[in-house]
Amino acid sequence: MVSTVNMLAVFGVLLAIPHLYRIASFVWLYVLRPSSVKRFLHGPKGGAYAMVTGATDGIGKATATELLRNGFNLILHGRNEAKMQKVVEELRARLPEKEDADVRYFIADASAGGHDFAKMIEPFKDLHITLVYHNVGGSDTSGLKLDERTEEDVHRMVNLNALFPLFLNRALLPYLRRNAKSGPVLVNFVGSIAGDIAPPRLAVYAASKGFLESLTRGLDNDELFFDDPTGVRYTYLAVGAVNSENHEAPMAVSLSTPTSETFARGIINRAGCGRRRVAPYWVHAVMQYFLQDVLGDGMIDEAGAAEMKSLIARSKKGE
Ligand SMILES: NC(=O)c1ccc[n+]([C@@H]2O[C@H](COP(=O)([O-])OP(=O)(O)OC[C@H]3O[C@@H](n4cnc5c(N)ncnc54)[C@H](OP(=O)(O)O)[C@@H]3O)[C@@H](O)[C@H]2O)c1
Repeated sequence: MVSTVNMLAVFGVLLAIPHLYRIASFVWLYVLRPSSVKRFLHGPKGGAYAMVTGATDGIGKATATELLRNGFNLILHGRNEAKMQKVVEELRARLPEKEDADVRYFIADASAGGHDFAKMIEPFKDLHITLVYHNVGGSDTSGLKLDERTEEDVHRMVNLNALFPLFLNRALLPYLRRNAKSGPVLVNFVGSIAGDIAPPRLAVYAASKGFLESLTRGLDNDELFFDDPTGVRYTYLAVGAVNSENHEAPMAVSLSTPTSETFARGIINRAGCGRRRVAPYWVHAVMQYFLQDVLGDGMIDEAGAAEMKSLIARSKKGE
């Protein structure tokens, strides 16, 4: 006869299975799995191109550097041509062994509406783009509530974080499908943990990142169902705090706030891992586990509010 103790033991093992699976999958993704970024190096003789928006600073610039190091030609986007030219020179100086790589760029204010996206990408449509990082984005630490912001300010925030990536991607799609005939193509939307926890005074930014996460799933399904799969896939990158000197109040580097360079290596190492949502940096993945599965909303909201209060105060002091 099965004793109560044995039944409890079986029950305990059953309960532990999902957690053990999660730990094993964490170790695989962040420790054991080799980077598969080179799978995206396919196509004609000229080589594969990676497009990175918001590439003149922070995570975008560091990601562009890692992509160049890994053998990709680059199409970069920024809003300031002089700064962009300096970035291209810096990339060339840092990686002289990649002198044959083609590095191109385009300039557009992503927070403005009314772009002609077809015209914007016209110079690049014949290039074999296999990786796209819709990285441009950002919030402000003004501390204003929705009704204290102008309508124009709200439009600019939504354009920058949601609509610019959406319409740029729409214009690129036919060419990405063409390129996927010779190998995999991956589109990445750079998101934020703020999209999950929506702290006070960041509602519009958080909602725009939530939009990107939903868009990732929907567009990935578009490419998979009803017709033959096209080979274009999507990933939402869940980003926690990352140090960027470009910010009004840069966060100090720590275990939970990596440099943009460390973070970019995480992005490259996770490329093509097959997940629709992934935290490129392992500490952010652990933090998300606690946010989503362990802590209650009340505790998260209190902590998010305290963090925002300190960020707004630092930004007002001009630190
Ligand atoms: N860093 C973090 O803690 C963190 C956390 C969560 C999510 N993220 C997300 O990660 C992405 C990159 O953030 P980051 O911290 O690396 O930002 P960053 O250092 O401020 O760099 C942002 C890049 O986007 C460009 N940019 C900003 N506004 C633009 C506009 N209106 N038009 C065109 N380009 C514009 C910047 O150009 P300039 O060089 O001219 O300024 C720069 O190249 C964003 O989507 C952000 O939401 C970051």
